[in-house]
Amino acid sequence: FIPDAVLRVTQQNITQSCLASKTNVLINGTSPGPELRLLEGQTYWIRVYNDMTANNLTMHWHGLSMAVSPFSDGTPVASQWPIPPACFFDYEIHVPIGMAGTYFYHSHVGFQAASAAGPLIVDDLHVPYHYDDEKIIFIQDTFTKDFQTIEKGLVNTPLVWSGEAAAILVNGKGGGSANGTACNASLSVIDVEPGKTYRLRFIGATALTFASLAIEGHGSLEVIEADGSYTQKADTSFLQVAAGQRYSVLLHTLPNPTQSTYYIQLESRDRPTVTRSFAILNYGPKYKNSTPFYPPPKPVVSLPKSTVGFLDYKLYPLQPSGDFPSAKEVSRTVTITVHQAVRGMTIWLENHYPWVDTFPTEPYLVSLYKNDGVEFPSMERAAQNGGLDPITRAFPAEIGEVVDIVLLNTGADSGGLDAHPWHAHGRHYWDLGSGNGTYDAATNEAKWAGKEPATRDTTMLYRYGLTTGNGTVQGWRAWRLRVTEPGVWMIHCHILQHMIMGMQTVWVMGNETEVLGKVPRPEVEGYLTYGGDVYGNESH
Ligand code: C2O
Ligand code: CU
Repeated sequence: FIPDAVLRVTQQNITQSCLASKTNVLINGTSPGPELRLLEGQTYWIRVYNDMTANNLTMHWHGLSMAVSPFSDGTPVASQWPIPPACFFDYEIHVPIGMAGTYFYHSHVGFQAASAAGPLIVDDLHVPYHYDDEKIIFIQDTFTKDFQTIEKGLVNTPLVWSGEAAAILVNGKGGGSANGTACNASLSVIDVEPGKTYRLRFIGATALTFASLAIEGHGSLEVIEADGSYTQKADTSFLQVAAGQRYSVLLHTLPNPTQSTYYIQLESRDRPTVTRSFAILNYGPKYKNSTPFYPPPKPVVSLPKSTVGFLDYKLYPLQPSGDFPSAKEVSRTVTITVHQAVRGMTIWLENHYPWVDTFPTEPYLVSLYKNDGVEFPSMERAAQNGGLDPITRAFPAEIGEVVDIVLLNTGADSGGLDAHPWHAHGRHYWDLGSGNGTYDAATNEAKWAGKEPATRDTTMLYRYGLTTGNGTVQGWRAWRLRVTEPGVWMIHCHILQHMIMGMQTVWVMGNETEVLGKVPRPEVEGYLTYGGDVYGNESH
């Protein structure tokens, strides 16, 4: 057995941007980790070694559906035991035809994904759009504190906040300013030639940062892909990329550039302070590391302040599936009200319950394989409780049903309101849009008459206004999900701080027979007892 790729995860001190060296989780020695390229229609085995000495690990293939191999989804305490130090786990990844697009992989444990992440591109058998070349723009953010200190602070009573992003990174580099303090660090360079068309693949691998970005002197971008789904072209002059989101845009480079370099400017939104960063679009001689570029003293483009509604009701699938369920097919609407409260620690609640990584004591999917009598979430109990079964803390769903999921933003007891990029594992949903005030299903349905929305896996629960005003709803986001894939799937906010603070839900889709019946038993050593096999057992 020879894996198709090997990822080795270590904990090391590195220097990022203008910050002091600190400990980070790296993949094959770097952050971002190596670019993985898969081909649609193929199956891959990726071996992940935990070379850290004291931290558990999992790897998640963000945006891909692990429908065929749910034990490979990489969610600790849902789909697998985490991989302990000095162990490895073989992940089986099926990429169905039709899933070509832009993804990434990341650790799903604690705050590790802030650095333990890398691009994952699924190549097309037949590319539907023409372009001359493509470039990856991998967006991360980094903090003054290290990931372990941040994790501890977030579950501490009282809360010790991570701090705002001290820098935004593009392909591992970046400088600009944070909290008004200049951050002088060399910038990433994207080499281009005049008069060509490039596919830029933007990957939102940030922990916290909701980035707004634009390219100096290049006002027109055409979105052609969102979260692994090709779309009809959608024109925009700037992009908004939240944690977990991906967009491909076509950039037509200038036929006669008047400068040899142009800045790509990125700014955080919906945070108390603005973190600004830059990368370089370079028409000059191909960049060699000898002459670093630095951030400009002042912003070069003016990015919109407002954040709400970006591309909502404007993204249509390139090839409609014809499968978009009408309102009549919807069997249930599950409304998830997200709210921050203080229960000892400061915690995010979904319909009054948090999900933290210590609940349950054994991952559901492991329990199902072991068939050790773990209680399945009950549809009856869930029906009494807004979709969540309070005993198992999971949201049950039946195969075949169509569920509308409506997220409602009510902010915090303390009065503040945040924006949240909500992400679904398992399969993509039709994104029904977002708005302020209360969600009105009929009004929203009318907006889709005769049209099919694009399918997504990460979209924004925006904040409308700055405060909650006594717990009133200030922002909704609606999805339509056809439940087809048996398994245990997480649906959660992709801001790592919020996940650690409980802003996650776990869905058990299908009954015991369906989950066990459709899925082959994982022929992976150690899956049932711990997350992987020990070093030296690679030949098993
Ligand atoms: Cu990239 Cu559960 O997420
Ligand atoms: Cu959030």
